[in-house]
Amino acid sequence: MAGREQHGDGGHRRRVVLFSLPFHGHLNPMLKLAALLRARGLAVTVLHTCFNAPDPARHHPELAFVPIHETLPGEATSPDSDILRKLLALNAACEAPFRAALASLLLRGGGRQDVACAVVDGQCYAAMRAAGELGVPALALRTDSAAAFRNMLAWPRLRDAGYVPIKGKQAKSNLFFPPHWILDLGVHELAANVPAEEQLDEPVPGLEPLRVRDLIRVDGRDTDEHCSFVASVAGAVRASVSGIVINTFEAIEAAELAKIQRELSLPAFAVGPLHLLLGRTPPAEQSLHEPDRGCLAWLDARPPRSVLYVSLGSLARVDRGAFEEMAWGLAGSGVPFLWVVQPGSEAGDEAPPLPDGFEEEVRDRGEIVKWAPQREVLAHAAIGVFWTHCGWNSTLESICEGVPMLVQPCFADQMVTARYVTHKWGVGLEVGEEVVERGMVAKAVREAMAGDGGARMRERAHRLQMQASAAATSSAMDGLVRFILSL
Ligand code: UDX
Repeated sequence: MAGREQHGDGGHRRRVVLFSLPFHGHLNPMLKLAALLRARGLAVTVLHTCFNAPDPARHHPELAFVPIHETLPGEATSPDSDILRKLLALNAACEAPFRAALASLLLRGGGRQDVACAVVDGQCYAAMRAAGELGVPALALRTDSAAAFRNMLAWPRLRDAGYVPIKGKQAKSNLFFPPHWILDLGVHELAANVPAEEQLDEPVPGLEPLRVRDLIRVDGRDTDEHCSFVASVAGAVRASVSGIVINTFEAIEAAELAKIQRELSLPAFAVGPLHLLLGRTPPAEQSLHEPDRGCLAWLDARPPRSVLYVSLGSLARVDRGAFEEMAWGLAGSGVPFLWVVQPGSEAGDEAPPLPDGFEEEVRDRGEIVKWAPQREVLAHAAIGVFWTHCGWNSTLESICEGVPMLVQPCFADQMVTARYVTHKWGVGLEVGEEVVERGMVAKAVREAMAGDGGARMRERAHRLQMQASAAATSSAMDGLVRFILSL
């Protein structure tokens, strides 16, 4: 179907309007979907925030980009705001401008004859509602896994059954909490009420293989606020959405996808892995930072599968103690590594200082960059294992290159994905259960790179890679286009 023009009854191309929240990990999958829908003959308009706006020059000239001219409060963009605060602020600030921009498109373009549907960020309940109010069918794009989305939909039930909140448990003590946030939210009080270890390891009925400790959460956050966010998303999906689009593929999440369709009585289109569908020449990524391509030359000089790649994505931060444990664990492992240490990992815009003596210790085998060309790094023959926070984009990218993982989830869907990586797909090992500690890090790194466990997960990673390649040639995207044209 690629390249064929998709006409409505009036003979002109039907239009899809897309809108993503301005997070790196959301915007890039949405822009990839835009490119794929355009290539299948649909007219595409990308509505976007002025904050982190996409650069039209980096995309196909047929894609139309329209800013919504939002006014964002500081907490929507501040590095000191946690993900939940950002999501709430962005939803509130984007609702009216998104509605106005969509209404104006309808007015200028011939209404529903022209606009077939809006595909909006699966975390943006405000946009789902606004589209519904304007009579435009909305599809929600989930940029996390089907398993994580199911966990989100189940949140009210889990809360009623007492599985959440996981009271006072900062499941990963390496999380970075700005000091004012801890005081504001009373984390110090909750900390007295840590559940027994065995409760955390209880399986959660209906969501296996998840245990209590794997459920999505934003640690330290007010429970009611989290619950109301999740309820808003689930409510908007149930009330205003005509279908779900998920950046995943059947071979790894068939059961979860079937359950989502059943539970919501909505079609769910597993159109991923989106970056693989675009082939080797996708449109340029929206990048947080300029990728340091020098690390590719550094990798060229390394033997196959000899290097550990370490990156915790675009949002996760670790505190100083955990950062030093990571550093000394890497040093102690004896393994060559490429480590992304981002500016802003600690207070301020600078990359955090490396521990004293660390650079001398790893001089011959450690490369540190502020931002890597990650997909090219993962595709490089020198990479043996990816130490990841299990953000969904990173996880899919690793799977698509057949690279096994060391997992260190930090918040939200990353906990769910880490469990699937280690216990469902068998392509990852944990860096450590609760605390990042240098001795455990060194041991886990050596096992993943050169141990029997590492060899087993490498074999399975290769099989998953084959399945991901097969998914890229499946007809899921054509099914989505047919559905859009039927709206
Ligand atoms: C978070 C979530 O955890 C994720 O699951 C959710 O759906 C979006 O928000 P993030 O922290 O951005 O995401 O991680 P991830 O989803 O893995 O995305 C990171 C992206 O940045 C990847 O596409 C990765 O290739 C890219 N990246 C990261 C680089 O290109 N270079 C780097 O140095 C680090």
